[in-house]
Amino acid sequence: MSTPSAISQRAAELREQLNLHNYRYYVLDDPLIPDSDYDRLLRELQTLEQQYPVLVTPESPTQRVGAQPLDGFGEVQHRIPMLSLDNAFTDEEMREFDRRVKERLGATGDVVYTAEPKLDGLAISLRYEAGLLVQAATRGDGARGEDVTHNVRTIPSVPLKLMGEDWPAVLEVRGEIYMPLAGFEQLNERAREKGEKGFANPRNAAAGSLRQLDSRITAQRPLAMYCYGFGEISSGPLGATQSESIRRLADWGLRISPEMRTVEGVSGCLDYYRQIGERRASLDYEIDGVVFKVDSLAQQQSLGFVSRAPRWAIAQKFPAQEEMTRLVAIDVQVGRTGALTPVARLEPVNVAGVTVTNATLHNEDEIRRKDIWVGDTVIIRRAGDVIPQVVRAISEQRPSDAQPFKMPEQCPACGADVIRDADEAVVRCSGGLFCPAQRRQAIKHFASRRAMDIEGLGDKLVDQLVSLDMVETPADLFRLRFDALEKMERMGKKSAENLLDALEKSKQTTLGRFLFALGIREVGETTAQSLANYYGDLEPVMQADSDSLQQVPDVGPVVAEHVFTFFRQAHNQEVIRALMEAGVRWEPIAIPDADSQILAGKVFVITGTLSRPREDIKQQLIALGAKVTGSVSKKTDYLVAGAEAGSKLTKAESLGITILDETGLNRLLEQ
Ligand code: IVH
Repeated sequence: MSTPSAISQRAAELREQLNLHNYRYYVLDDPLIPDSDYDRLLRELQTLEQQYPVLVTPESPTQRVGAQPLDGFGEVQHRIPMLSLDNAFTDEEMREFDRRVKERLGATGDVVYTAEPKLDGLAISLRYEAGLLVQAATRGDGARGEDVTHNVRTIPSVPLKLMGEDWPAVLEVRGEIYMPLAGFEQLNERAREKGEKGFANPRNAAAGSLRQLDSRITAQRPLAMYCYGFGEISSGPLGATQSESIRRLADWGLRISPEMRTVEGVSGCLDYYRQIGERRASLDYEIDGVVFKVDSLAQQQSLGFVSRAPRWAIAQKFPAQEEMTRLVAIDVQVGRTGALTPVARLEPVNVAGVTVTNATLHNEDEIRRKDIWVGDTVIIRRAGDVIPQVVRAISEQRPSDAQPFKMPEQCPACGADVIRDADEAVVRCSGGLFCPAQRRQAIKHFASRRAMDIEGLGDKLVDQLVSLDMVETPADLFRLRFDALEKMERMGKKSAENLLDALEKSKQTTLGRFLFALGIREVGETTAQSLANYYGDLEPVMQADSDSLQQVPDVGPVVAEHVFTFFRQAHNQEVIRALMEAGVRWEPIAIPDADSQILAGKVFVITGTLSRPREDIKQQLIALGAKVTGSVSKKTDYLVAGAEAGSKLTKAESLGITILDETGLNRLLEQ
């Protein structure tokens, strides 16, 4: 690539491709290419833009990472006010709404409505001029909101540039910004690990993320948007109906709810409400009801609005997800890795249709922060699939015999000392596999579907086997005999036979599964598979030192330490030996042979900006036998230096280390 026009053409091409992939991934949830390919394209564009800053355009996908903090939020006057909605809490109130609509319209037949979930997030207005996002504002008081353009630009499902060409010169789109539940859980988990407070619910998390002066923080938050309405449109309405107009937004790359339907009459509304209600817990975002809008825009026009809400729309709300109850006790559970988790035992309470008796309290710090005592009246919240949470205690109602909680100093399952990891909020039992609670969890994990996949060996059976001292380690599972099994409670001849068959079948496994099944701390499925691919067989994993382990993709110093320590324990070695003796086996994975290891023993450091991700280059070098480290020392053989290499380059030069630019590297790799 040489001439300026070729370069700017390539940049335009990359922007277009990236915008398309972004749309496929975030708007349609239907990606065309793997993440790594996306990263490669993005990296290429970033490199080009770094070299030629004139190429940067505001709608470039590289411009979503956030920018310098602002001093404050600007104010935005909404040219068309952002309205609110009236609520209906019962079917009867819905029927009244429909009756009023029909009466005002003088309609005799059923009115057609659009129906869609009422997302629990925050309303936003996006303004596109000539197809480019120029402003994003919160609702504020409906007439005036806050300018949050800098933050909204970081949300991947909000297009910076509309697709197609037939959009109006000015288009204001309204919708809801929200935080998907999975992202919310992760965000809170991370906050808790750091001993921070976390957000009470996804709505607060979305609002807090959007009200950041530093958009680089917003860019880290998993926000998304669905569009459901309009503000100013220079061309006038986009269609004859609400549903048709909303669908046009989808053609321009804006995200609309896949749950939107048109329904007929109030009976159609009530059916829809019930269907969504049933699916509420399986949606990946929080909703607090359903919104119905008269579909015909002409009818909307003639109905008009009163004060802050349109007469043509209504929100039918779901019952509250929060209820009050009494905290009877706080029990402490011991997990697979020994982590002690306090669990709230509650006086049974019905929260949105489900009886809740337990709720998680996460850790001791959290309990202290929320000032929760045993005996308190507490607010319980259940959202989607999420485990019920204790939101807060009502301290004004604290009874005189309430007791503060204290984490036990001995493990409640085995009596071993409890230890607090240096910079974690978590405390752990130090008993390891001598602790029956950990043993139980370890065996459940070992047998689970994604690990050894021992069919029929469920949690209850494991509990029984451990309580009866029939099983202490995973290896004991393969020593179970028919006679003993058959005599167990709720076990017949047939189930005993089936279990033995399943155990036999599970012995033929893969190295990745086996490594995962061992339950090494921080070694999930992906890491286990990476270890398997890298070492090919168990023996080299067991022998590997921390340096070697850190060459494995995804393995950093902490994981390396856990793996190394695990295999140094005599107890673990013994269990592994017993498992192999019992007949657990796998096909070794072919790893590159010595002939292809042309870089065996050579130490590389990679620095600066290169045309493809460093991780790719690292993997390629490792496959050829090289070792890739993070810092330059006398032991370094080669420094691969891309654009804007800094101190590492200087140091390598001073040590007289061979320096390869990208061309040099490619030449070496081609050999
Ligand atoms: S329509 C003119 N549709 O609910 C109608 N609102 O309680 C204005 N909301 O401020 C809103 N999902 O933040 C509409 N599908 C949906 C919605 C929705 C959530 C929010 C929105 C609005 C609030 C009113």
